[in-house]
Amino acid sequence: MAQKQNLSEIAKDPRLHDLRQTQLQVAMGIESGSDALRGTLAGNTDDLSPSTLIDISLNDPFVPAKLEKALSPRSQRVSGPQGNVEPLTLIRDPAAWTVADWAGKDDWIYQLTDQDLAELDAAVTEAQARGIRQTGNAYHVQEVVKSQADFPLPTLGPKLVAIRENVRIGRGFQLIRGVPVDRLTRQQVMIVYWGMGLYWGNTNMQNAKQHIIGHIKDLRQTVNSTTRVYTTNLAQPFHNDISDIVGLLCLQKAPKGGLSSWSSSLQVVNEMLLRGRQDLVQELAGPNWYLDRKGEIPEGEKPYFRLPILNYHKGYLSINYSATYYELAQRHPDVPRMTPKQKEAVRWFNALAKSDELRMDGDLQPGDIQLLQNHGILHMRTAFEDALEEDQRRHLLRLWISPPNDRELPEVYRPLWGSITPGQRGGIWGFEDVPPTIPLEAE
Ligand SMILES: [Fe+2]
Repeated sequence: MAQKQNLSEIAKDPRLHDLRQTQLQVAMGIESGSDALRGTLAGNTDDLSPSTLIDISLNDPFVPAKLEKALSPRSQRVSGPQGNVEPLTLIRDPAAWTVADWAGKDDWIYQLTDQDLAELDAAVTEAQARGIRQTGNAYHVQEVVKSQADFPLPTLGPKLVAIRENVRIGRGFQLIRGVPVDRLTRQQVMIVYWGMGLYWGNTNMQNAKQHIIGHIKDLRQTVNSTTRVYTTNLAQPFHNDISDIVGLLCLQKAPKGGLSSWSSSLQVVNEMLLRGRQDLVQELAGPNWYLDRKGEIPEGEKPYFRLPILNYHKGYLSINYSATYYELAQRHPDVPRMTPKQKEAVRWFNALAKSDELRMDGDLQPGDIQLLQNHGILHMRTAFEDALEEDQRRHLLRLWISPPNDRELPEVYRPLWGSITPGQRGGIWGFEDVPPTIPLEAE
């Protein structure tokens, strides 16, 4: 069983910070302050290599100054919680937090109990007894375990639903510890994870191969500007996934690096307002934000799409942010050039999200599941050095979850999310002729 670690221990450990910086630089073969970084910050985005783009967002030393006399929240318009949010106001919501709000608290960590594990074991045994097809690398759990009734969890089930609600409309993040990945076969791990996911919502496709459980692993391929970073050992700068909720189950951690961080993007906006930069918030809510599709292009769509970073809709603020995708989209001649104000807004966004005040750091252990809500929480990971032994290599399993009871999203999400209907939206769409697959190993 992994030991509970409270946030203050995790966040304050200076070794983590040193490791993060070292790993970023070692794994990418760069040093802070490189010519490429300086050139790009000066507005030259000719070099769109993955390491330069990552460098722009993670190694930029820029720190937005706090005002001499910070604007008082009382001097600004305040609204919230989500459902009652008004544009360009300070947001009061459980998902708008700073690191200080979690000091000494560990109520965001749930340790699976012996009773929970007994229920999971029984449900897995029952599912296996019904017979699950395996064809090559594909394990067809979804044919047998179709609903919660096919994976009964008498007392754990309601707890999983409550956890999902805390992620969906509460603080926006959760850690579940103690999935016994060491004693389960890979097939059993897939049944457990898939079955737990049924208590959180419907599941989305994660790539053109229609993986419904995705493998986060370094595939050791040649990396170019369209490589999905989760298949490499590079750092992933702050972003949110194409899904209402993302789950990551850790099977194996890297010997060095690969640490997870997450920040409240709602609070990033609040911090801009508190620093008197309503103009940047307005810019982020503007229409002309173009993101690259990295070559996964649904038929009839362009290799890029447009989606504002801040989306105020029916009382909700939904934030879609992917550091590096805006710069990468600049490779398409018909995409308008980013304006100086847009570049400034992105730079502020990155700097605030990664600041010590807003960035929560974690180190997923085998058997940990991290759940994050994607509309108000951003996540990133540091670069990592992998083990040489095959079974010791960093390996996470991802779920993209769409709860049927989630908020409404505006039409602008449709080109990326395929649908805006709660329970059916998100994921990589346009490849429906390929059957959904749960691969046992990364492919
Ligand atoms: Fe992600």
